[in-house]
Amino acid sequence: FNKIKHQVPMLSLDNVFNSEDLSDFIERLNKELKTTTELIFCAEPKLDGLAISLLYQHGQLITAATRGDGSVGEDVTYNVKTIQNIPHTLIGENIPDTLEVRGEVVIPIAAFNHYNKQAEIKAEKLFANPRNAAAGSLRQLDSKITAKRPLAFYSYGIGLLKNGELADSHYQRLMQLKQWGLPITDEIEVKSGLHGCLDYYQALLDKRNTLDYEIDGIVYKIDDINAQLQLGFISKAPRWARAHKFPAQEEQTRLLNVDFQVG
Ligand code: IVH
Repeated sequence: FNKIKHQVPMLSLDNVFNSEDLSDFIERLNKELKTTTELIFCAEPKLDGLAISLLYQHGQLITAATRGDGSVGEDVTYNVKTIQNIPHTLIGENIPDTLEVRGEVVIPIAAFNHYNKQAEIKAEKLFANPRNAAAGSLRQLDSKITAKRPLAFYSYGIGLLKNGELADSHYQRLMQLKQWGLPITDEIEVKSGLHGCLDYYQALLDKRNTLDYEIDGIVYKIDDINAQLQLGFISKAPRWARAHKFPAQEEQTRLLNVDFQVG
């Protein structure tokens, strides 16, 4: 694949692992922003797939790139153009001249199970999980192969923006992307303070097994874009967002046999 340089680096997320970590994070934000009022967050599912950047010029999809090392990714435009729910042309009003949309490519769980069942019948290689399936399907040299894989894309943010006006709220920006025809998940919500975030975490954890796609946690983002700009980044992660990982999924199984070998 050819390389594409990200004009705005694609960052990763720092994690919180429990409610104390989350409470510390929010307290630090309040201190940094010099406010005592409850902070407003955009809460989103943390999709377990592959990060992708889509570059639209005058509403037309021009290039698509993987995250790579965050500053340089791989050009997967031909493959991404085969993904059914990614618009090649945006629709609606006030579309910026340059708009870079960021999001995750996933394989819906039902499609993943169907794919693996068929592969088993044909004695072909199975994918270990939907994340590997999404990554493997996108990094195909022949885009006809990618086209046969049931990939889907969900937007979660904006990178480069030129000659365009957008709302000062991250949530409103995602809703604007939806109006331009870009897919977002149905689970994105605005939440207030620690309790709002924790309620969302529990609600989505309870719903996890009913979703079409795999998620491995929640992402909380300060909703106010000006506060995001004020807080900025440290090393490779924004100071205004955290991923709150779900506990690893556990299953019960029965050990049928042990084959001891020397070696
Ligand atoms: S925001 C500046 N939102 O998580 C913030 N990332 O560990 C950048 N991910 O590489 C990411 N769902 O691929 C964001 N709703 C979501 C996400 C999300 C999944 C992935 C993304 C990123 C990784 C960071």
